[in-house]
Amino acid sequence: MNNSTTTSSPARTPSKNAMVNFPSSRPAKKARHLCSLGTGEVIHVLAYTALKDRVDDFEFVVQGLARCLYTMESAVTDVRVCHPCCGEVVFIVTFVSKAALSRFLLGPQRDFETQLEGLITTSGATKKPSFQASGTMMPAAHTLDSLLDFLKTTVKGDDHTAHDVRTVSKEIERWFPRPSEYEKYITIDPANPNKYTRNLIHGDENMDVILMCWPAGCQSSIHDHDSSSCWVTVVEGTVHEVQFQLPRLDKKFLEAEQKDPANAVGQCGRLKIVNIASLNTGGVTGTYANNDIGIHRVENRSEKLACTLHVYAPPLKKMKIFDEDGNVHVHLATKNSEGGCDGGDGCDPNVCVLRKGIFDVDAWNQPNRVK
Ligand SMILES: [Fe+2]
Repeated sequence: MNNSTTTSSPARTPSKNAMVNFPSSRPAKKARHLCSLGTGEVIHVLAYTALKDRVDDFEFVVQGLARCLYTMESAVTDVRVCHPCCGEVVFIVTFVSKAALSRFLLGPQRDFETQLEGLITTSGATKKPSFQASGTMMPAAHTLDSLLDFLKTTVKGDDHTAHDVRTVSKEIERWFPRPSEYEKYITIDPANPNKYTRNLIHGDENMDVILMCWPAGCQSSIHDHDSSSCWVTVVEGTVHEVQFQLPRLDKKFLEAEQKDPANAVGQCGRLKIVNIASLNTGGVTGTYANNDIGIHRVENRSEKLACTLHVYAPPLKKMKIFDEDGNVHVHLATKNSEGGCDGGDGCDPNVCVLRKGIFDVDAWNQPNRVK
């Protein structure tokens, strides 16, 4: 062991809880802190240095300790032993949890230090490593920019059937939203401060990525998603998603839609609620919808502003809006992409309602407040 060496035990990666509210599954509750996006594993780094005149004895003991760690199976997912030179060793051990690390500190590590007593340098007290640190494994979390890069290269196609829904959902859930990334997209319309707003973060031929801001008590209309996929993740606060079965559409409406796909008006069957999901940063954070799954309404039942990130792919050019009296009409999505404000000099983003991006306040909102 004269050169730097690393060896690992067979990796045993704990399964991660799904965070997306797929209709067929019930995701486990899990708070979204940065580390909760990872596996929950804890890495422990432990370094020892031999006294100059005890190097041989130190090496003898260290070989035994390394052998002991390599053969540990319970509660350990990975072991690396770095041996820069005779007289120095660094153990890097990955535990399945903080509790497993605590058991190691009270058991095997104490035993190691007993064996190394009198052989190692110390910083004052005896039987202590020259360096020790432990912490939760940092996850491969996205920034908003890296998430957008992923979406731009991955989400393509003419309709929702082209998408790998679970893969995209997992990547979206890897975004750890920081206010410094998304605050500039938060807008409340001063003329309609109780209505939700849609603020374009990124748009291309394959998708629109939109930050939606939900003032307390507001709700969207009940709507479908045409041929698009719709991924949603909560950025801050809590919203409820009320999922409905796609209702039967009246024959006259279907005929009207064939003649004029952009302006059809008609009747639909009774709306049936199939699920109500609470989406928040401390539990289930995301959902996904397309017309094969059903239609939905998003509500802010809380007293605080909520923000959600939506990915519509391809961009939603039109949608059907339903009401509980059995009416349905086609609505065209409106984008302030032509002639809108660039957000340049003199633009106050807190009051500007002309910024480029979707800002179609009236039609997308349901006029009444959440009961
Ligand atoms: Fe939607």
